[in-house]
Amino acid sequence: MGILDKHTVLEKNVTLLAIFAFLVVTIGGIVQIAPLFWLENTIEEVEGMRPYTPLELAGRDIYIREGCYVCHSQMIRPMRDEVERYGHYSLAAESKYDHPFQWGSKRTGPDLARVGGRYSDAWHLDHLRDPQSVVPESVMPKYGYLEDRLIDGEYVGDLLKTHRFVGVPYTDEMIENAQADFLVQANPDEDFDGLLERYGETVQVRNFDDAPGISEADALIAYLQMLGTLVDFSTFTPVASR
Ligand code: HEC
Repeated sequence: MGILDKHTVLEKNVTLLAIFAFLVVTIGGIVQIAPLFWLENTIEEVEGMRPYTPLELAGRDIYIREGCYVCHSQMIRPMRDEVERYGHYSLAAESKYDHPFQWGSKRTGPDLARVGGRYSDAWHLDHLRDPQSVVPESVMPKYGYLEDRLIDGEYVGDLLKTHRFVGVPYTDEMIENAQADFLVQANPDEDFDGLLERYGETVQVRNFDDAPGISEADALIAYLQMLGTLVDFSTFTPVASR
């Protein structure tokens, strides 16, 4: 009996076919799943990643509240068209402090994973107020009201605590100083050394909406301007190619 005839036996006997199909799927499953039990970590450590500052975290909450993720993903796939348009593909480490993740899959608008630094604060402000004034054919809604809603960061310490609870390494000091750090990031006239000490020299400190007080627009723009800027890709080399 040749190999083809043997296969015909399999194809004609549904029970036998089921047993062999099960075997093959099991082997494939083990090959994929088993290594995960022996890997210490599936997320490669990457220099530059830090927990979000209180102002950025508040901005991220506004991003979620306003449903920006409904039209925007934050995940650049490792394919040429995406990398050429948006920049280096997203690393797992870049969203390790995201609870919940903002990867998304729906792209009515562009991916925002590396939008930080691509436009000025003033551009963001104009664009949020009236997207069509910047991109006439845009279907993005207007968010001008965010500028009028002032926030004081009263509960931002609790927000940090909640994120610590799910694994973000906020220290006691970060939590104690959360409200002060929140206020100072949009107030460059005050002393912001503590903020930089806790979160790093690269934290962007300025009056994002160019108006007195801290508005939801300040927080949201602080968040947008940070996106994708934490890892320095001019020096980054993946572990696999070191
Ligand atoms: C109904 C879908 C929709 C929603 C909701 C939406 N956007 Fe957009 N967004 C778009 C589209 C379409 C564009 C591209 C045209 C433009 O620039 O306005 C865009 C562009 C952008 C850009 C410019 C990106 C680039 O690389 O040029 C930013 C930044 C942005 N949106 C932020 C936001 C934020 C923040 C929110 C939530 C407050 C939001 N969007 C909500 C559809 C949406």
